[in-house]
Amino acid sequence: MIKPYGAEALMPLFVYDQNRHHELLHEAHQLPQLMVSSAAAANAVMLGGGYFTPLTGYMNLADSLSVARELKTSAGLFWPVPIVNVVADVSAIQGASRIALLDPNQEDNAVIAIQTVTAIEEISEAELTEIAEKIFGTTDTNHPGYNTFVTQGRYLVSGPIEVLNFSYFQNDFPDTFRTAVEIRNEIQSRGWSKVVAFQTRNPMHRAHEELCKMAQEAVDADGVLVHMLLGKLKAGDIPADVRDASIRKMVELYFPPNTVMVTGYGFDMLYAGPREALLHAIFRQNAGCTHFIVGRDHAGVGDYYGPFDAQTIFDQVPEGALDIEIFKADHTAYSKKLNRVVMMRDVPDHTKEDFILLSGTKVREMLSAGELPPPEFTRPEVAKILMAYYQQLDAA
Ligand code: ADX
Repeated sequence: MIKPYGAEALMPLFVYDQNRHHELLHEAHQLPQLMVSSAAAANAVMLGGGYFTPLTGYMNLADSLSVARELKTSAGLFWPVPIVNVVADVSAIQGASRIALLDPNQEDNAVIAIQTVTAIEEISEAELTEIAEKIFGTTDTNHPGYNTFVTQGRYLVSGPIEVLNFSYFQNDFPDTFRTAVEIRNEIQSRGWSKVVAFQTRNPMHRAHEELCKMAQEAVDADGVLVHMLLGKLKAGDIPADVRDASIRKMVELYFPPNTVMVTGYGFDMLYAGPREALLHAIFRQNAGCTHFIVGRDHAGVGDYYGPFDAQTIFDQVPEGALDIEIFKADHTAYSKKLNRVVMMRDVPDHTKEDFILLSGTKVREMLSAGELPPPEFTRPEVAKILMAYYQQLDAA
């Protein structure tokens, strides 16, 4: 099986040992408590599940700057996005060596992890802006990821963590949320050797369905891991439960049985385009996948990135750093000439008019109005699920 990223074995920071888990919960009651951001809690979920192997906790300022500027930690590990715990107020944890991290996303604000504090550093305005600009490629506060990153506070609390739960993800998405440990195990028990991963934060239309099938065929994979984001999204994006239901319906009806694993991970969308694509590749390798699809405007938002920037950034990955291979997909759409979904680069004789192209806004308008998009664009069973969501939204 493909090796985890930067380590011989996966390093989930969740405390699986029951005695140790119990001890830590007990310790948590005596410790200074720190309410963390949703992003920091999501980092804990990813670290807990082994997705961020070989990291052992939250990065300090030197590592964050180094990752932002040079795509590597101070120790030289290739890494694309600082994994940080940034807060506004550290008065309650001054001088503490161990602290309990409270999860803002669980109703009772449960302790999500215990952190051994190695440093509390104040980031200057200039450093914060520089880090965020490097990650998001902009300083525009209208960018949802940039805005979240620069408004969390100016204190970086770094150090290793021991994770006690997976936030709300196991409860809310029991059939879909999976750790990297669980996905690796399942890949192994299915006897798959080549697995192609598909990242998504959206429902899957025909283009996405065919993209997965094309990639699977091109790399001769045993199966596809549809791996959806289950965390926070910007306003206007389709919620995870609706997306999950529509993807499951599509897989059930339109893929051969036992060729697709529908799963999800607990992380908030960064909308960091190219940088996020690199992170995506790392954590799919950790989940045991051998190939990863990067298509058009991967992890993008608005016009902040060029349509294929998330592919070309892989040229900056040092030789041999990543074992997972990238399947770089061109813009995919239904060809009216050929009556099938194609990649545009494969049909140089086509003009724009030869494709069925609908904007997200147009599809939403149609669904809200109770109108089915053409079946060449969206499977009708998928469209019905999305239509029910939009109509209930409009009625509210
Ligand atoms: S993302 O933010 O999770 O990347 P989305 O769910 O829309 O957004 O896309 C999932 C994956 O499909 C990404 O790799 C993206 O590049 C790819 N993709 C989406 N639509 C197309 C398309 N029409 N042609 C090619 N690739 C696409």
